[in-house]
Amino acid sequence: MKAEHRLIVVSNRLPITAVETTPQFQPSSGGLISALVPLRDDSWACWVGSAGAPYEPKLAELLDEWSSTQPCSFAPVFLTAAERASFYLGFSNGVIWPLFHGLPSRCQFETTYWEGYCNANKKFADAVEQVCRPDDFIWVHDYHLMMVAQGLRSRGLSNPIAYFQHIPFPSPDIFETLPWRNEVLRALLCFNLVGFQTVRDRCNFVACLRRCLSQVRVRPMGETLLVRAGEHCAHTGAYPIGVDYEEFARDAAGPTISSGSRAIQNQFPDTQIVLGIDRLDYTKGIPERLIAFEKLLIARPELRGRVNMVQIVVPSREEIPEYNQLRLRIETLISKINGQYSKPGWVPIHYFYRAISRNELIAFYRAAHVALVTPLKDGMNLVAKEFCASRIDNRGVLVLSEFAGAAEELRCGALLVNPHDTETVARVVDLALSMDESEECTRMKSMRSQIRAHDVFHWYRSFRAATEESVLTMEETPIRSLPSPVPGVSHVRLRRAFAGFQFPAPGPGVEGR
Ligand code: UDP
Ligand code: G6P
Repeated sequence: MKAEHRLIVVSNRLPITAVETTPQFQPSSGGLISALVPLRDDSWACWVGSAGAPYEPKLAELLDEWSSTQPCSFAPVFLTAAERASFYLGFSNGVIWPLFHGLPSRCQFETTYWEGYCNANKKFADAVEQVCRPDDFIWVHDYHLMMVAQGLRSRGLSNPIAYFQHIPFPSPDIFETLPWRNEVLRALLCFNLVGFQTVRDRCNFVACLRRCLSQVRVRPMGETLLVRAGEHCAHTGAYPIGVDYEEFARDAAGPTISSGSRAIQNQFPDTQIVLGIDRLDYTKGIPERLIAFEKLLIARPELRGRVNMVQIVVPSREEIPEYNQLRLRIETLISKINGQYSKPGWVPIHYFYRAISRNELIAFYRAAHVALVTPLKDGMNLVAKEFCASRIDNRGVLVLSEFAGAAEELRCGALLVNPHDTETVARVVDLALSMDESEECTRMKSMRSQIRAHDVFHWYRSFRAATEESVLTMEETPIRSLPSPVPGVSHVRLRRAFAGFQFPAPGPGVEGR
């Protein structure tokens, strides 16, 4: 992507989010925002994203005020409460999130959610169209916005449009349960470039294309694959996201964080700290991790009083009942474990349910002996990389789930575990706590050099270069306005065929859908 091209970034979440019920904003959390914020440079013309609340003049004014202090401008999309319910809570987080993390039984395949998703994607496309010039590159982020390129193409925009998915892409056996699978795949093929975190995700995407669409052709082209389905084509590749290594290392070495980290260690005298930091999410494997920690205390009673778990849970998606149930499960488990094993002067698990400041975060990374990062499935997991980037002392052991995208790059130094196998996780934590200094240093150095060489700026440059490359190839293959339907059962056609048909009300014991 040449420097003269302006960049329009599009994501559901902006760096700040409206606080429910008050005209106020708070910093957003999550990996997407952590990754994008340090990348803003002169080429960023505008960041289009949801304000997180319905339109209110005071909110719009506050957002304008905040934008004027930022390195790029912002175009907020205001969704109504009903739009947010079907698009964000319903389809994005009630269907795509669990499905793409390999949990189809958690999905609620409601047609109204799908309709809300398509309509909200059109609203985002409208917002992009308003700020976009003919030469701009448009960069869409994550699963909330898979239909945006299709919307823009249908309006006649021929700008280069790239998509990066921060979460995993599932295997065909899981993906094909989505009633709107063909519509989603065809919409993704309206992007010039579809980027994933890992080669595994990219392979899954290609396998889903082959399974669901007809006339699929795949051709390697440089570092990407050119995928064609009928007359539609896109490039696809794997671009593992990184962290701002230098900034973490610099901050970690500073006096504030050094004294913060000492203060934490002083609060846990003579004990080793096992650290977990996650957004509240059922994909993060928090209950399984707590169970593993309890198994460690049972198997090695001599560790009681000599090891502490610090679990920080950042509140997330609190309007979704499953997230509240998860919180309750975590808190019940923690109080059960603490109730069972605490003794005067020692409580096994220290639990924080709140967002913490960046300084506190890095101080915890520095103070920990072991980072226990055990998601059941994760696109990448930046916490794992931030932990290593902050370990300027080359100490600390990373115990990492083999199902986190980060495992592909960090297997050189991390102790990989299956998070479902809680007994082995307990054994591996034990091993980590007693690892000798030289092995700890060798492993940490090797992960740090990988993370340093593949930092977030490397990711940004590679993705922009691949977008440019894909556009040059596309110039030989003109961009079409809309994907044509493929043979087979189309959900849209089925719905049209049944338009006006009244489904009987669900009977007793039958769930209404
Ligand atoms: N994080 C945060 N607030 C906190 C604690 C952590 O924003 O109080 C950040 C953390 O530094 C990391 C991100 O949240 O950059 C979590 O990203 P990750 O990829 O690990 O998981 P995600 O939340 O995106 O699923
Ligand atoms: C993950 C997703 C992001 C999302 C974040 C926080 O990192 O990849 O797109 O922003 O979780 O979730 P939320 O629903 O609060 O935006």
